[in-house]
Order: sequence, then C-alpha cells, then structure tokens
Amino acid sequence: MKKFIGIDLGTSNTFIYVEGKGIVFAEPSVIAIDVKSSSVLEVGYLAAKMIGRTSEEIDVIKPIQRGVPARMNPTIKLIKEALKKCGIKNLNNYNILFSTPSGITPIEKKALSEIADALGANEVYFENQALLACYGSGTTLKENRGNLHVNLGAGTTNIIVTSGNRILVNKTSLFSGNLIDEAILRYLRKQRHLLVGSKTAEYIKMKIGSVEFTPENRLLEVTGRDILSSLPHNVNISTNEVKNCIAPLTELLIDSINDALVLTPPEIASDITETGIVISGGTALLAGIREYIEKSINIAVRLAPDPVASCCNGMKQYMKLIK
Ligand SMILES: Nc1ncnc2c1ncn2[C@@H]1O[C@H](COP(=O)(O)OP(=O)(O)OP(=O)(O)O)[C@@H](O)[C@H]1O
Ligand SMILES: [Mg+2]
Repeated sequence: MKKFIGIDLGTSNTFIYVEGKGIVFAEPSVIAIDVKSSSVLEVGYLAAKMIGRTSEEIDVIKPIQRGVPARMNPTIKLIKEALKKCGIKNLNNYNILFSTPSGITPIEKKALSEIADALGANEVYFENQALLACYGSGTTLKENRGNLHVNLGAGTTNIIVTSGNRILVNKTSLFSGNLIDEAILRYLRKQRHLLVGSKTAEYIKMKIGSVEFTPENRLLEVTGRDILSSLPHNVNISTNEVKNCIAPLTELLIDSINDALVLTPPEIASDITETGIVISGGTALLAGIREYIEKSINIAVRLAPDPVASCCNGMKQYMKLIK
C-alpha cells in the first residue's frame, strides 16, 4: 500500500510529514541557488540566513507567496532537497497531501499537481490548511457541531466555519504576518527615515510587536541605513509605535471574522459562541492578538498548543480519515 506524505508549503515555513516517520522537515521556505550552475547551495534555515547578505552570484529565493508556489522550479528543488535531507530519494511509493490556503485558485491547484508529478508521486490530495490546523490543534469535530478556526500565517489568513468535518464557510483576510512586517518597514522609512530589511522588520514585530498598548512602553534599538545620509544609523523604536503600525491591520482581521460569522447558519453560530474560536499559525503568537480577537468578537478565543505546526500535526489525523 502507498504511504502518505504531507507537505505544508507555507509562505514562511515548510513542513513535511511522512506517514510512519513523523515530521521530517520544519524549516523556512527559502532556497539559495548558484546563478551560474543552477545548483542548490542551501535550503531552509541555512538559506534563510543568507537573505540580504549574498552577492549577485547567489539567488536567495522565497518561492512560496501567499501560501502557493510563485516559482515552480525553486519550489520543486526546495522539496527535493528537503526530502534528500531526510533520506527520501523519490516519491514513487507515496501519495501526497498538500495543505492549501482558503483562496486557492484552480490554476494554483494545477501547479501543485504538476509539482507532485515532477516529484514522481502517485496520487495527489488537497486539503484546506485551516481545517488541517483545526485537527492539529486538538479540536474535536463532532458530527453537526459548529467550530470556527482561524489560521494566521505569514502570507495568508484562513478562516473556516465547520459543521463536523465539513467546511461551511471559507474566508480569507488581507491581514497577514507579512503585511505587518511591510507596515513596520514603511513606518521606519517614512517617519524615522531609516531603511531596514524585511528580516529586521519581522524581528521588531516578534520582539516588541503588540496588538494592545502595553503599560510598559519597551524600546528596541534598530540598525539600518539613514535615508538622507545613506550611512548606517541606529534608532530606538517603541512598542507603541509598532502597535500603531499594527492597529489598522488587525481591524481587517476582525472584519473578516465578522464576515464569516454573518455567513454562518444560526445554530452553528450558537455552537461557536459556546465552544469559542481557535487560532493557529505563527501570527497567532503576536502579543495580545488572542485577547484582541476575544474582546472584539466577544467570543472566547483559544491559542492552539503548537500554533506554527498545527497544520502539519493535523495531517497525521487527516491521513487516517482519507485512507
Ligand atoms: N512570536 C511571534 N510574534 C509575531 N509573529 C510571529 C511570531 N512567531 C512567528 N510569527 C510570524 O508567523 C509567520 C509564520 O507563520 P506560519 O509558519 O504559520 O506561516 P506560513 O504557514 O509559512 O504562511 P502561510 O500559511 O500564510 O503561507 C511569520 O509572519 C512570522 O513573522
Ligand atoms: Mg501556513
């Protein structure tokens, strides 16, 4: 019998789950390629370390954008290298399960099928990453009972309302982890005349980013390039400045969750009010976001136990169901 391999191609992180082996790859979705020879230099963590730090002879690529492959060949190479790292040479004996974002188009699905072919896989299955994350966060999907799960990633936000294991409402939001990073970059450039890279913006978000004003207004020293002098320059950025960058974006998220609730049948909405909302994905770790959603929607919100790995953890359970 063919084995299952689950691949969660995230904008920021790629997870690979192999039936019988567990999670064999959990690293950034980054690949470094030698431009001249087209050979792969590094993937994952080691490639991510090279972002913004190499010469033009090395192409450091993030091939997944908004949860789908934006560049086919680097995506295939990334998966092949990741599989090689864990001792899997080809996928002839495997069926692939891909996690997909809520708004995936038929063309994007076709691209994933082509990737499965290029990897030599047998059959290809797709499932919504928020549903997989729902399984992976320990939610019990009881027959005909309603649940609302929000998966907050780097490039996508996927909101689903389920009845049992069927998706009734499937929504996306413009809100995402990358959108926050871009807002911080813009703020530093416009208000503080400082140019920083995307990794620095992400670091600021993780270190002092918060959805709520904190009584203790922490400062972080950030190094970048002064726009006027073009020389290296340090500025101190505060928690509340970052909060001001994030605030308009979190409103987008609340609007999207409310849109999903408006489309939810009343009996299911009543279940959700009782059982609460579950959030997963790396952006669910943003300080204060759980409390903010809870306060804004007026429904209890629980953070999934291992939010970044929820989708991949859910694949194990899901594979048993589709067998
Ligand atoms: N402590 C933290 N605070 C704020 N954001 C965080 C934290 N930890 C991780 N993140 C953010 O989580 C995001 C990565 O989450 P995740 O791995 O779920 O995304 P992904 O699956 O790669 O993306 P997508 O599913 O949207 O394609 C990044 O934007 C990262 O900056
Ligand atoms: Mg994801």
